[in-house]
Amino acid sequence: MITKTLKVNGLIRKLTVDPEETLVNVLRTQMSLTGTKIGCYCGECGACTVLWDGKAVRSCNYTMERIPDGAEIITIEGIGSRENLHPLQLSWMIHGGAQCGYCTPGFIVSAKALLDSNVSPTREEVREWFQKNRNLCRCTGYIPLVDAVMDAARVLRGEIAMEELWPKIPDGASIIGSSLPRPSAIAKVTGTCDFGADAGLKLPEDALHIKLVQAKVSHANIISIDTSEAERVPGVYKVITYKDVPGTNRINGLAFPQNKGSGKERPILNDKKVFQFGDALAMVLAYSPKIAEDAASKVKVTLEELPAYMNTLDAMDENAIEIHPGTPNVYFENFVIKGEEVDPLFEKLPYVVEDDFYVGRQPHMPIEADVGFAYMDEEGKLIIHSKSIGIHLHTLMIAEGVGMPAEKLILVQNPAGGTFGYKFSPTMEGLLGVAALVTKKPVFLGFNMYQQFTYTGKRSPFFINLKMGADKSGRLVCMKSDWTVDHGPYCEFGDLLTMRGSQFIGASYDIPNIRGAGRTVATNHAWGSAFRAYGSPQSLFATECLIDELAEKVGMDPLEFRYLNVYREGSTTPNGCPPDVIAYPQAIDKIRPVYKEAKQKAEAKNAKSRDVKYGVGLALMVYGCGLDGADSSEAWVELTEGGAMLGVSWEDHGQGADAGALTFAHEGLRELGIKPEQIRLVMNDTEITPNSGPAGGSRSNVMTGNAIRVACENLLAAMKKEDGGYRTYQEMKAEALPLRYTGAWAAPGTACSVETGQGNPFAVYMYGVLLAEVAVDMITGKASVEKFTMVSDCGPITNKLVLEGQLWGGLAQGIGLALSEDFEDLNKHITFRKAGMPYIMDVPDKMDLIHQETPRPHGPHGMAGSGELPLTSPHAAIINAIYNACGVRIKVLPALPEKILAGLNK
Ligand code: FES
Ligand code: FES
Repeated sequence: MITKTLKVNGLIRKLTVDPEETLVNVLRTQMSLTGTKIGCYCGECGACTVLWDGKAVRSCNYTMERIPDGAEIITIEGIGSRENLHPLQLSWMIHGGAQCGYCTPGFIVSAKALLDSNVSPTREEVREWFQKNRNLCRCTGYIPLVDAVMDAARVLRGEIAMEELWPKIPDGASIIGSSLPRPSAIAKVTGTCDFGADAGLKLPEDALHIKLVQAKVSHANIISIDTSEAERVPGVYKVITYKDVPGTNRINGLAFPQNKGSGKERPILNDKKVFQFGDALAMVLAYSPKIAEDAASKVKVTLEELPAYMNTLDAMDENAIEIHPGTPNVYFENFVIKGEEVDPLFEKLPYVVEDDFYVGRQPHMPIEADVGFAYMDEEGKLIIHSKSIGIHLHTLMIAEGVGMPAEKLILVQNPAGGTFGYKFSPTMEGLLGVAALVTKKPVFLGFNMYQQFTYTGKRSPFFINLKMGADKSGRLVCMKSDWTVDHGPYCEFGDLLTMRGSQFIGASYDIPNIRGAGRTVATNHAWGSAFRAYGSPQSLFATECLIDELAEKVGMDPLEFRYLNVYREGSTTPNGCPPDVIAYPQAIDKIRPVYKEAKQKAEAKNAKSRDVKYGVGLALMVYGCGLDGADSSEAWVELTEGGAMLGVSWEDHGQGADAGALTFAHEGLRELGIKPEQIRLVMNDTEITPNSGPAGGSRSNVMTGNAIRVACENLLAAMKKEDGGYRTYQEMKAEALPLRYTGAWAAPGTACSVETGQGNPFAVYMYGVLLAEVAVDMITGKASVEKFTMVSDCGPITNKLVLEGQLWGGLAQGIGLALSEDFEDLNKHITFRKAGMPYIMDVPDKMDLIHQETPRPHGPHGMAGSGELPLTSPHAAIINAIYNACGVRIKVLPALPEKILAGLNK
């Protein structure tokens, strides 16, 4: 131990510390300054940025022995407070810079160092600063963050007052479509929002820390697990294996009846077999994380290794053994039958193209790794706090496995530092539940980033063979599709995902005749979990690239070819139902002049440049809001003295659930004169908030937005007086009228048939058209995106900050998907940088958004969702632009420089 005297946030603090402990850990655990976050813990993400003698440093990089006595440290808590916000903090709020908010303290502290040295930076200087300081954000696409710095600088230069930054919304006016900051923004920008790891530090002293013993091979029989040595380590409370699990030890994956698997393949703690690298074999529970970690290395696991099938080809080989004995590796199939047989049609058509495409295992890469805690309450209920984005759904999925009746199992969502869909599946909830149930003590489990990469699900790769045919006028006549989904070893939602192929391959286009076949395959690579835009990035990559190939064959401009073939009145989707609204012709009309200008610009630049070539590419974007077919949501609204309370399970990944919930509640109660600040949000606790369904598939804005609308209508109806006015709170009480009213809403629709793919799965869709402008370095093969222009149609805008943040953030993730992101190599793709996550200079500062607001018949106030739309096909637009620039068509993502170079050299 050593002592250090530091000046922290203006106060002299004398500390006794382990010289090898990192500054970030000392700040968080010994000084309770939990505003500073831990992301990568290896200097890659900037979440832990603090000021050290005025210089921005990543505090995970420094051990205490390197910090000299007298050093002055400033954390986010020292930048400003709720009562006294720094201009950067306010500006971050009003630009929507804090989405999940996990990167926010690090960015703000970093920006403070920049503005202290240069109060008039250019946008490019701001971008270079964040690049140099390695500040990573997975949510925002960076544009709002640069906007925030520029406006804060204006305040600091005295050009504008703080108050002028706040959006002007007249008293009593609707906040629909406004730029009102989300309610959680203030806690996020001040570092006072307690994420899971922060709340974990505040658990009682006897809380147990869990460390997992994880498999280091991808497929094996488990011969034995010897915990005796680990259990003897002083400070270890217990080592838990499958033998201790009170329940069935299986997650219920809610398989379709047609699924040849049971849906209960995923163990909480592996018992008979290892199915993938990283599987959890035992949990060590100790009084400190360090003891638990040391003891975990003493658990002896004896395995009989089996052949590992790391892709579908190997798993489908006739000699391959069944990964789950008794269940074939190809365990689900579905088909599309629409219109006439297509093979005879192809023979007669003048224009036919066919190609193969592959989209790989995109990792989600939230800056906050998975984290949670659990305990038994005083009534014997098991309470689990986690990043779950489906608290009611997950109760159903884990209750039996953990061994707790669902009615005694409570799930609560912590503020989540991004999920992007991986938390649509329970990850550690089963582990936490078992640990708390077995020990009857509070338990905490926080993954490090390596575990986040290797334990949690990834986007499931699709291999797609696609064939399309057009007549002599260029009209699409038929399509034949074949898709194989690598869903890793666990089948949960694999069937649902494979159905997405039938819904989105060929979507956006009026194709009267389709035949398609898809299948889900078990492999030993990473298990497939939901990822933003679920199934459409794979489906639309094949569709939008092949559309470009067909346009070229027909001899038409790709924009005009799309214009000719998009949905119009009388068109039907691949599922044989009419689209909810016709949005594409108008959207294409809006982008046409931008496209023409971009093409001319690229041609002019190409005429002068040999080493860099420029190109433009297009893609249509489409996604349905909801779960297949029947989908529903519930909310309640209660009249309170001086306002109202809204109860809803609208889980927040960082997408802005709180902003959405507030907007709908305010609109519904506006006639009562209730202001936004008079509405209390009660969210995401299965004990007190109703089943609003999971926050996935851009469903919440539609389903839960409608449920809130109905709840408000029901309250207003009860308050209505005969003279047309409304009863007051006191009058309601005096008349003994109930104060709380439930609203429920069910989407009209029918799930698609597995045999034909026909049905009406989504009541509301989102549409978009994207133009990508890229540059390709002809020497290195490196492609970069210079600009995006997107026409989005998500219906009337719910909240402009939220919408634009979603669109920019999704587009940035699309750049990663197109050019760099992967989780194929278990030894390499295990950090943000190595897995290809885009830094700010990889994302253009120009991402123009054109909003088209076609009202949806079934949307609340006509609205659709938005979160999935921007990641449906940006990679296709980029790949089409690369082809346009240099003639190389990449069909297997990501388009790494070496692949492009190989194409150039061909
Ligand atoms: S840079 Fe320190 S946690 Fe990522
Ligand atoms: S707001 Fe930046 S990572 Fe979520």
